[in-house]
Amino acid sequence: MTNAAKTIVGNWKLHGSLQENAARLAALKAGCRSDDALAVCVPFPYLAQAQQLLQGSAIGWGAQNVSEHAKGAFTGEVSATMLADFGCGCVIVGHSERRSLYGEDDATVVRKAQAVAAAGMTPIVCVGETLSERERGDTAQVVTRQLAAVLTVASEELKHRLVVAYEPVWAIGTGRAASEEDVREVHALLRGQLKEAGVNGARLLYGGSVKANNAKALLNIAGVDGALVGGASLDAEEFLAIVQAARA
Ligand code: 13P
Repeated sequence: MTNAAKTIVGNWKLHGSLQENAARLAALKAGCRSDDALAVCVPFPYLAQAQQLLQGSAIGWGAQNVSEHAKGAFTGEVSATMLADFGCGCVIVGHSERRSLYGEDDATVVRKAQAVAAAGMTPIVCVGETLSERERGDTAQVVTRQLAAVLTVASEELKHRLVVAYEPVWAIGTGRAASEEDVREVHALLRGQLKEAGVNGARLLYGGSVKANNAKALLNIAGVDGALVGGASLDAEEFLAIVQAARA
């Protein structure tokens, strides 16, 4: 991922097939420009396909999860070095679905982020409050706690490579993106926290119901360096419209 344009990352979640992916990736390759900064995070079994089809293109690829362990008796896990073997540039870590459905806590998220950075890839660490946390007025406390967990133990390597995605849980898959004011406020808070920890270069993405029709407004908010896109990344035409909105 380059620093030129705003960064657009697609999170395919549990979607795809060899055939479907081939068509989607071909359309993305045909529609993007060499100066676009975009990547797709695909399910593990499709990493080889992504590598084969995207190598040499402007589009990066990555994974949606990783083991905190390097190797050993951890049935079903996939290590960071295995992901690096397939050319992954980035790995989503601590997505709210991992936190809520698979019990990943802050400490696990940190270990995963360290593993990703140590393997030379970009960890995209997700933070975000649930609806009830927001309604209780706990948004700032929740997101700063989640980011602090990473920053307090981050290696220099992790600080250098870190990307943070603010994804309010209530905005994910609901069609209800956060308001510009909410995004501006939380991004300013996280930016301040990153600066305080000496992490000045980290990109700060927004995720949660980013679509072709709201991408420009969301990407134009001060402090937003890009977007993490779920549902809309499954439709090549819509994803490309978001990539286009990210151009200067
Ligand atoms: P949606 O774009 O479908 O709301 O998903 C956001 C997300 O979870 C990206 O990681």
